[in-house]
Formats: sequence, structure tokens, C-alpha cells
Amino acid sequence: MEALEETLLSSATIAARVKELGAEITRDYQGKDLIVIGILKGALPFMADLIREIKLPLKYDLMAVSSYGVSTKTSGAVQILKDIEMGVEGEHVLVVEDIIDTGLTLNYLVGNLLSRKPASLKICTLLDKPSRREVDITPEYNGFTIPDRFVVGYGLDYAERFRNLPMIGVLKPEVYEKS
Ligand code: IMP
Ligand code: MG
Repeated sequence: MEALEETLLSSATIAARVKELGAEITRDYQGKDLIVIGILKGALPFMADLIREIKLPLKYDLMAVSSYGVSTKTSGAVQILKDIEMGVEGEHVLVVEDIIDTGLTLNYLVGNLLSRKPASLKICTLLDKPSRREVDITPEYNGFTIPDRFVVGYGLDYAERFRNLPMIGVLKPEVYEKS
């Protein structure tokens, strides 16, 4: 892909890891009803692949949240742009996210979902950038721990572009300069 300076994770590497995560989740949720909640838009490709590697009956739903602006950064308050349509009280909920960076988005979401009284709530993220964390949040399932670099592809965007790349990588500097 010519916009990328470097590929960090090839599509084959991602697929193999998604298979492993699916197998792990399948083992952990044996005999339980599972609701998978994907966070739009970034988690869409990951969630679509992951749910087909979870060999259990499950339901899924989607949520969209606004990213916080500079002024809301300290509070970590994000807005829910689209809520899930199903109730989660008494249900086992697995939140699927593309990446945990500062952790502010997920921290807010977890608090919000916990107030709905699920039986359990766990987080599955494809990528984790722990070096950037501002709040104490650790995913139960993590595809890859990555260094503090801005990555695109497989759902992750720069200015809404590059979400459809099958791999994950770092953009060339001139891509930023052009936009
Ligand atoms: P957090 O609240 O800082 O953890 O933000 C997580 C959100 O920021 C993710 O859902 C992404 O939308 C976005 N994000 C964080 N790091 C990256 C990156 O390297 N590439 C693309 N989006 C990112
Ligand atoms: Mg996102």
C-alpha cells in the first residue's frame, strides 16, 4: 500500500490473532449467553471477523460515540451518538474496540454500560497503546500491544480515510502534509 511508510501487522497476522482471540472467547463464555457490542466506526472490520471466530450463540449490537475535543479531554466525557438497541441488564457483555489509546473513550463507555447492570462486562481490543494511557483500564482480551505510533487500516482511520486497508501500518509523513 503506497500511503504506508511501514506495515506493522499484515492481514494474515491479524487474521491469525483474531482466530486465537475467538477461540479464547469461545472457551471463556461456554454455556453463557453473550452480547457483543462493537464501537463504531473503527471496530467494524475487527468485530465482523471476530464474531465469526466465536463458536457460540451470541447477539451483537453497535454503539457510536463522539471523540472528545480538547476541552473535554480531561473529563474524558464522550457523547453517545448511537446507542445499542437491546437491553443488557443481567447479560454477559463483551465490548469490542479497535484501539485503546488514552483509555478515556472506553473508560466512559464502561461506566455507562455498567450502570445498566450487566451480569459481566469485559473488553476486547484489537490494539493497545499502553504507553499513552491516562486512566487505569486494562482489556481482558488484546490482539496486539503496539508502540506509540499513529496507525491506520483495518478500521482505523486518518481523517476518515484508510479504514478499508486490509493491513495495519504507519502513514508516510507526506500524507499528513497533503491534508
Ligand atoms: P482513547 O479514548 O484515547 O483510548 O481513544 C481511542 C480512540 O482514538 C480509538 O477508538 C480511535 O478512534 C482513536 N485512535 C487512537 N489511536 C489511534 C491511532 O493510532 N490510529 C487511529 N485512531 C486512533
Ligand atoms: Mg474508534
